[in-house]
Amino acid sequence: MHKVLVLHGPNLNLLGTRQPEVYGHETLDDIDNGLYEQAALGGWEIACRQSNHEGELIDLIQAARLDGTAAIIINPAAYTHTSVAILDALNAFDGRVIEVHLSNVHRREAFRHQSYVSLRADGVIAGLGSQGYRAALDAVMAG
Ligand code: DQA
Repeated sequence: MHKVLVLHGPNLNLLGTRQPEVYGHETLDDIDNGLYEQAALGGWEIACRQSNHEGELIDLIQAARLDGTAAIIINPAAYTHTSVAILDALNAFDGRVIEVHLSNVHRREAFRHQSYVSLRADGVIAGLGSQGYRAALDAVMAG
């Protein structure tokens, strides 16, 4: 069975209560549960993980290199704008990479306009809220 990993970066565990005017009212569990259903319908195996720790996200990306994961959908959150280490880990991963942001980072502060992860991503979705994850998963499953 094809396998996809969804990675959520720091503070995304607070979704639903964190700046809902920017990030929406859905919780991370709401989003992940929808993705689990969508993947099952498409016949894909999926794992959704969140971490507030850069190193843990890197460990998860490294594990995905070795366990047959075909694609990574990642919202690196604030690490998007700072993490060369996450970029390096993704560069060592051979499958597809889709970068997702709930908010339209380009309409926000200038420091959010730069993404290290975009240097590796095959596709980038920003500003569609949780719909962005669903679109990313559709794209991955379409191959
Ligand atoms: C975010 C945008 C980032 O700039 C921010 O640091 C986040 C969330 C988004 O999903 O819109 O934590 O990645």
